[in-house]
Amino acid sequence: MERLQAAIARAREARINGGAGAGEAAVRALPVADAMAGADVWSALPQYQPERGVFEAARLVSMTGGRDGPAFDVVRTKVLHQMKTNGWKRIAITSPTAGCGKSTVSLNLGFSLSRQKDRRTILCEADLRRPSWTKMLRLKERHSFARVLTGEQPFSANALRYGQNFALSSTFEAARNPAETLHGGVVPEILAEIEAEYQPDIMIFDLPPLLVTDDALAFLVNVDCALLVAAAETSTVGQIDNCEREIASRTNMMGVVLNKCRYAGAEYGYGYGY
Ligand SMILES: Nc1ncnc2c1ncn2[C@@H]1O[C@H](COP(=O)(O)OP(=O)(O)OP(=O)(O)O)[C@@H](O)[C@H]1O
Ligand SMILES: [Mg+2]
Repeated sequence: MERLQAAIARAREARINGGAGAGEAAVRALPVADAMAGADVWSALPQYQPERGVFEAARLVSMTGGRDGPAFDVVRTKVLHQMKTNGWKRIAITSPTAGCGKSTVSLNLGFSLSRQKDRRTILCEADLRRPSWTKMLRLKERHSFARVLTGEQPFSANALRYGQNFALSSTFEAARNPAETLHGGVVPEILAEIEAEYQPDIMIFDLPPLLVTDDALAFLVNVDCALLVAAAETSTVGQIDNCEREIASRTNMMGVVLNKCRYAGAEYGYGYGY
């Protein structure tokens, strides 16, 4: 508890002093030459080349805007509207318990955003206890967003690019100290550095569930808002209430995505309510 409070205090201080969460201010302060350099660092990232059938197998439907894509485009539009209105740049995706669909929603939101060519998106796998993207995306790279967060390795060595404007940093294997890594004192600085170098319009973090461990709790102070993924027929109103309180005491609660709706109306397509 003390560790959590100390981490929150440190991150708040960093935000006030223009560190974490003040990415926008940091980016705006960069000279034009640095903004141009941003394009080079993006081009230097290795390209993700998905194997055939990988997206269908992982329930990723948003990269083409096909039959099921619009459900995520609706989420994307609502997320972007709120982020623009409030000047937010970093969003966490979490859920009450495991398996609600955080990774599926995070990746679909990221791929949906990748279709907006004038916007740069960075998506990070910050569930360091149960990472799943390597399997979902059939990645060969042994990338570790955990090592980026501890400062052991640069983001550039742990990220892939999809198209020109979407970067993913996955976590190959569970980290040894997931909570300590996510609560690390250097995290605000590292995130600010990534923002300064890559100039993303939006950074998304696929976080662990909120009610199972304290992994996600302290990290929430590093983001501007959080989206809660609840699983229909699994997540309870009490759990969602609890999560909303936890989120609201650390950052802005953006909304709830109701996932796995068996009886969603046609307007929700793939089974996502929002
Ligand atoms: N809308 C959906 N309809 C049916 N199945 C879904 C849906 N969304 C996700 N799933 C499936 O549910 C399982 C869990 O999804 P996912 O891995 O995205 O959840 P998670 O919250 O990230 O889990 P974890 O807490 O383990 O990280 C996966 O098998 C995924 O394919
Ligand atoms: Mg997951």
